[in-house]
Amino acid sequence: ERGGYDHFMLKEIFEQPETLRSCMSGRINVEGTNVALSGIIDHIDKFKKARRILIIACGTSWHAGLIGEYLIEEFCRIPVEVEYASEFRYRNPVIEPDDIVIAISQSGETADSLAAIELARKAGAFVYGVCNVVGASIPRNTDSGSYTHCGPEIGVASTKAFTAQVMVLTMMALTIGKEKATVTDERYLHLLKELQNIPDKITSILALNDKIKELSLIFTYAHNFIYLGRGYSYPIALEGALKLKEISYIHAEGYPAAEMKHGPIALIDNEMPIVAIATNNAIYEKVVSNIQEIKARKGKVIAIINEGDKSIKALADYSIEIPITDECLDPILSCIPLQLLAYHIAVNKNRDVDMPRNLAKSVTVE
Ligand code: F6R
Repeated sequence: ERGGYDHFMLKEIFEQPETLRSCMSGRINVEGTNVALSGIIDHIDKFKKARRILIIACGTSWHAGLIGEYLIEEFCRIPVEVEYASEFRYRNPVIEPDDIVIAISQSGETADSLAAIELARKAGAFVYGVCNVVGASIPRNTDSGSYTHCGPEIGVASTKAFTAQVMVLTMMALTIGKEKATVTDERYLHLLKELQNIPDKITSILALNDKIKELSLIFTYAHNFIYLGRGYSYPIALEGALKLKEISYIHAEGYPAAEMKHGPIALIDNEMPIVAIATNNAIYEKVVSNIQEIKARKGKVIAIINEGDKSIKALADYSIEIPITDECLDPILSCIPLQLLAYHIAVNKNRDVDMPRNLAKSVTVE
């Protein structure tokens, strides 16, 4: 049932080209000229007049929510706030009738997320679910929603559900953005084309598995890790760190790269591995200087870079080259090598990858 893979997690990582194809299927037309999520189209007026969008989720789904914030603000020009469901539900938040709440949950059963949407609905908000498990409690208690359609996820560490959540949020932002005319036709069409290239680009990243496994051997005994990224890569830094912590039990922190100088840079010495998500983006030069600051303090840098990159490759101790895509779609690619790195380090340490200690696949208690 693990399809020849040693663990469900590895199988699920490798399924991602296929799961993302099924996530897009029936939503983006074959010509790549239109995307429509029916749950959005059915309520398009609500989305067009939304004053604010609140995204609530936990864990990995919360990281997908952060990417959703960047996407929705960029393409729909609607202010977005992302909150941990567990905080939202207990702090008497301001919810107005023109607010839309998006609840993201793989299992659709997370107790804190369920309680948060109940609170939001009582306050009159329209609640939209982004869930994977069909017919679970969250989709049954929302006004509308979109399934991620990535099939059952068995490994406790979320991988394919995460990329499918980001994919749904991307399609959602483009659907609303087109209706509101807050995204240009040119950009819209370019992104739809590029979305269709994502599965093949993931396949080429998966071909780096042996190289990443080799790299993992160098870092198996590290006690700490720092993950850095900026812009769309910042949530990926958080997600990369979470994957490592939960399955390898190594302490790891994700940080926005520019925040390092406000404290955490004090941690850097020649024993600290730093994973820098340093793919091309609008602030590439700034990321280069953040990496220089780390190298000046002798940190060991593992950089996720784009194919053809020279500046960061020359600075980093190790680099993993991934295909270029549009900046806003980059998270779906850059998270893949981090999933593999966490997986191999955990395997090297003989951890129970699919069922890490103290964790459960669905957290139905608070
Ligand atoms: C991380 C992980 C957890 C879940 C979180 C939310 O790999 O699996 O952090 O993401 O418990 O779960 P769902 O998405 O089912 O609400």
